[in-house]
Amino acid sequence: MTASDVVIHLEKVHKVYQVESQKVLALRGVDLKVRRGQVVGVTGRSGSGKSTLLHVIGTLDTPSAGKVQLVGEDVSHLSDQASSSFRNKTVGFVFQSNNLLPEFTAIENVMMPGLIGGGSKSALLDRARGLLSSVGLGARMHHRPAELSGGEQQRVAIARALIMEPPILLADEPTGNLDTKSGEMVEALLFELGRRNQVTILLVTHDLELAKRMPYQVDMEDGNIVHFGGSW
Ligand SMILES: Nc1ncnc2c1ncn2[C@@H]1O[C@H](COP(=O)(O)OP(=O)(O)O)[C@@H](O)[C@H]1O
Ligand SMILES: [Mg+2]
Repeated sequence: MTASDVVIHLEKVHKVYQVESQKVLALRGVDLKVRRGQVVGVTGRSGSGKSTLLHVIGTLDTPSAGKVQLVGEDVSHLSDQASSSFRNKTVGFVFQSNNLLPEFTAIENVMMPGLIGGGSKSALLDRARGLLSSVGLGARMHHRPAELSGGEQQRVAIARALIMEPPILLADEPTGNLDTKSGEMVEALLFELGRRNQVTILLVTHDLELAKRMPYQVDMEDGNIVHFGGSW
């Protein structure tokens, strides 16, 4: 392992939300190093800072203090425009609610980040087809989200998250709205695709059994990482 294998590097990251006169300390000096291809389960009580951690890592939010480096680049203070183009190439997201665009078909939704990123349309189309087949939706590519089940929609969201071949995939309770069986399929797909593509995955889950099955674990409490599991 060399320094360049470190894909996510946080040093003393703080995040303070100011709500009227009250300060909420959502992250209180988080240090974290995640290497290429590592799959990390993130657990912790509601309000412990898991989503904030993912937002800060994913450049959806900036830290109040401390340093965030992704694939060797300091992203702590990127401008809005610079951060959205960096994010488009570097980070795929899967959230609890899939945020698919209802008026577009599955394949159009999957291609969307690529179209925004200015990729070649025919290459994107090929890749989107391949991804949808690999999540078991080869026959449903031209269906709109409303014509798909919750689990199928989440599989489309996974394909969309991977279309730019990002080195990092962030998933925030992606199975939270699914029944057990669909949830397990979504999880299995995330890991399989991540492993195959050497993607670094952070997956927030309240399912402790699932977290234990992952190679690495991080447990949060009150804005801090209080426990590492696995062979860091
Ligand atoms: N936009 C926000 N404005 C104010 N407080 C927030 C905001 N987002 C999160 N928080 C607060 O930060 C803390 C951590 O929240 P969050 O990261 O969502 O926790 P988790 O995902 O572990 O449930 C909570 O106390 C929450 O209320
Ligand atoms: Mg959350």
